[in-house]
Amino acid sequence: MQDSDREAVVRLVFESTNAWYKAHFDKNVFGGEASSCRVFPEVYEALDPGCCIIAEDESNGRLAGSCFFHPRQTHYSLGIMNAHPDYFGQGVATRILDEILAIADADAKPVRLVSSAMNLDSFSLYTRRGFVPYATFQDMILPVPDGGLEVDPPEGLARVRDAVPGDAVAMADLEMKLNGIRREKDFVHFIENAAGIWGVSVIEGEGGGIDGFLCSVRHEGSKMLGPGVSARWQDALALVFAELNARHRGGAPVFLVPVDQGQMVSRLYGWGARNCEMHLGQVRGECPPVNGVLMPTFMPETG
Ligand SMILES: CC(C)(COP(=O)(O)OP(=O)(O)OC[C@H]1O[C@@H](n2cnc3c(N)ncnc32)[C@H](O)[C@@H]1OP(=O)(O)O)[C@@H](O)C(=O)NCCC(=O)NCCS
Repeated sequence: MQDSDREAVVRLVFESTNAWYKAHFDKNVFGGEASSCRVFPEVYEALDPGCCIIAEDESNGRLAGSCFFHPRQTHYSLGIMNAHPDYFGQGVATRILDEILAIADADAKPVRLVSSAMNLDSFSLYTRRGFVPYATFQDMILPVPDGGLEVDPPEGLARVRDAVPGDAVAMADLEMKLNGIRREKDFVHFIENAAGIWGVSVIEGEGGGIDGFLCSVRHEGSKMLGPGVSARWQDALALVFAELNARHRGGAPVFLVPVDQGQMVSRLYGWGARNCEMHLGQVRGECPPVNGVLMPTFMPETG
């Protein structure tokens, strides 16, 4: 993608995603105007300049597809993948994916992504190319009143605080310890928050250090909690509560919760959360064991 392609990619992300979900589930993912999707190239180009592959129809110069990728210390992550509706089912996404896999293979790194479990086109796209699901998440949505959540505060809340720049290394170390991946530069970017759209909370360990963290984004094009990692579900719940109250009052963000964290899910139902989608963490290549509670997101897209 060159700078001159950017606006067309923004429109493609908006139109492709909405067209697919409208056709299959009679709903739009992105409301408002296509311009709300500018957040994706803005964040991705700030983090990883030049890491977007586009496909062009050579017969007429039309943009047929696009996908961003994110080289990190331990892996590459991939997303957001789109084909234009006029080109669905013609191998455009596979062609783009192969290009990115070749880059990752040359660097001898695994590739990770989060794909919808309700979208067989994307599930098949990735599993046909050797991706294997390693975790299942339920996407939960929770409206937050203007005055904050009206539920009993979870235990451990007193240990939660806003992250400061010095926390980025400890966050990266914790994710490496629990989940076997490292991506410090994402956390530096979120904590720095030059765009004014990010929030980051950490939960301090009883014996020092941090036991978990949770980032969040609040923008017209993306309202989500994540990415986050915690050693215990109770800590993850305290982080969710803190991030919702600190940054999402009057909103209704989405967050991905591992389906096997039954006690956490049960508490979230008690707070009024509802399921709105299902996602799979997928990896092509080495997959370190998952420990603790992962809360992935789509920006950058990795579990
Ligand atoms: C998902 C999406 C990117 C796929 O793009 P596409 O260009 O239509 O995909 P392709 O034509 O490359 O097809 C992908 C592969 O899946 C295969 N496939 C599709 N449905 C399948 C099924 N039910 N079972 C098995 N394989 C299937 C296709 O045959 C193809 O493999 P092949 O080339 O080896 O035959 C496109 O539907 C899209 O942009 N959707 C909206 C946005 C979105 O959902 N993005 C992904 C977010 S997780």
